[in-house]
Amino acid sequence: MISYARQTQEEQPETPLPPAEEHIAPAPRVSVQAFCETVETAAAVQSAGEDRRLGKAHLKIQMGGMAAAIEAYRSAPTPNVIVLESDGRNDLLTGLDHLATVCDAGTRVVVIGRINDVTLYRELVRRGVSDYVLGPVGAIDVVRSICNLFSAPEAKAVGRIIAVVGAKGGVGSSTVSHNVAWAIARDLAMDAVVADLDLAFGTAGLDYNQDPPQGIADAVFSPDRVDTAFIDRLLSKCTDHLSLLAAPATLDRVYDFGTDAFDSVFDTLRATMPCIVLDIPHQWSGWTKRALIGADDILIVAAPDLANLRNTKNLFDLLKASRPNDRPPLYCLNQVGVPKRPEIAAAEFAKAIESQPVVSIPFEPQIFGSAANNGQMIAEISANHKSIEMFLQIAQRLTGRSETKKQKSSFLSPLIEKLRGK
Ligand SMILES: Nc1ncnc2c1ncn2[C@@H]1O[C@H](COP(=O)(O)OP(=O)(O)OP(=O)(O)O)[C@@H](O)[C@H]1O
Ligand SMILES: [Mg+2]
Repeated sequence: MISYARQTQEEQPETPLPPAEEHIAPAPRVSVQAFCETVETAAAVQSAGEDRRLGKAHLKIQMGGMAAAIEAYRSAPTPNVIVLESDGRNDLLTGLDHLATVCDAGTRVVVIGRINDVTLYRELVRRGVSDYVLGPVGAIDVVRSICNLFSAPEAKAVGRIIAVVGAKGGVGSSTVSHNVAWAIARDLAMDAVVADLDLAFGTAGLDYNQDPPQGIADAVFSPDRVDTAFIDRLLSKCTDHLSLLAAPATLDRVYDFGTDAFDSVFDTLRATMPCIVLDIPHQWSGWTKRALIGADDILIVAAPDLANLRNTKNLFDLLKASRPNDRPPLYCLNQVGVPKRPEIAAAEFAKAIESQPVVSIPFEPQIFGSAANNGQMIAEISANHKSIEMFLQIAQRLTGRSETKKQKSSFLSPLIEKLRGK
């Protein structure tokens, strides 16, 4: 590993974070070796290696570009992915020809270059190069390129994980997550699953009026059995597009999970479900922290008081620092306007967090209470209630989707767009 990355990172231009509609699925357990020519690129690759989506990949960075790569693989086997930086054209093509003679079958090559030219690109494709990334690159460009090698852009089933957590207990994070998932399924017509991670006390089964005999506990207590078919059998169907992985909500066992206890469940859900909403209990443990950091998007639900403000701020700080190449978390205020209760105004909250709440959901005990006791969503109780529009807004912000579904583009379009210019 190179050691100068930290100094150079600060000098790097800030690369824009991926837009909300873009979803980069994590890469599997692959080996990646990068041969860089410039310290800037080496620093970008290094911070890409620290990104959550490359958490399973094994990354090694060397300097020396093409020449070093050819030298290295004369005797050593090639990894799953070789990332090559090159600013020349002819050197690059001859180098690639050379490299082809020592490359094992199945090794994919990503080139980082400075030349924006279609003929060069065609030459690269002819030589079997998997991706050409136009420099200067930021960490997220490297993350995107490597991850996309392992998930076809048309593979709709590569699921996006949305984590919802309360800044304090009882602030309504489960209620919000269930209603938002319901909106994702109904209004955005995305297949979604709610995973109730509050195994002892979760309310998703109650809220959706489901009492399935099996659920998430069956998976988390037998990780060896977890595969797509197994998880499918544990899901209970709530609506056309919405399923539930229910918590047992029983106390005969205790739920002291290890940090990666849910990994196989999440990975399996990702393979079959476009949208996975995690209802995370308000607690701080290895696995809750891991679930939040590993999610594609995060929603923090907060009530407008001081403890919620402090906790939201702490969660924001930690999550932003742990996810430098991701959109920052979103938050919403809930239970706003409890009669006679002093509150921190939304504007003040936003100033402290340095981010606006997506919505401020009013405290409506009558309607929320009926929904909870009847096992219904707010929209089922009162079709025009103002909070319904808010849940939809959250759903749209979290998924990057609007109600009208977008036309899917051709598989070549990312390349074409790239060539059209940065
Ligand atoms: N906007 C609201 N107005 C009135 N009541 C609400 C509102 N939002 C949630 N509630 C009620 O607050 C209670 C707690 O909600 P919920 O269980 O969703 O919170 P939570 O943050 O998930 O709690 P826990 O920490 O136990 O997981 C429920 O009775 C719910 O109906
Ligand atoms: Mg809850």
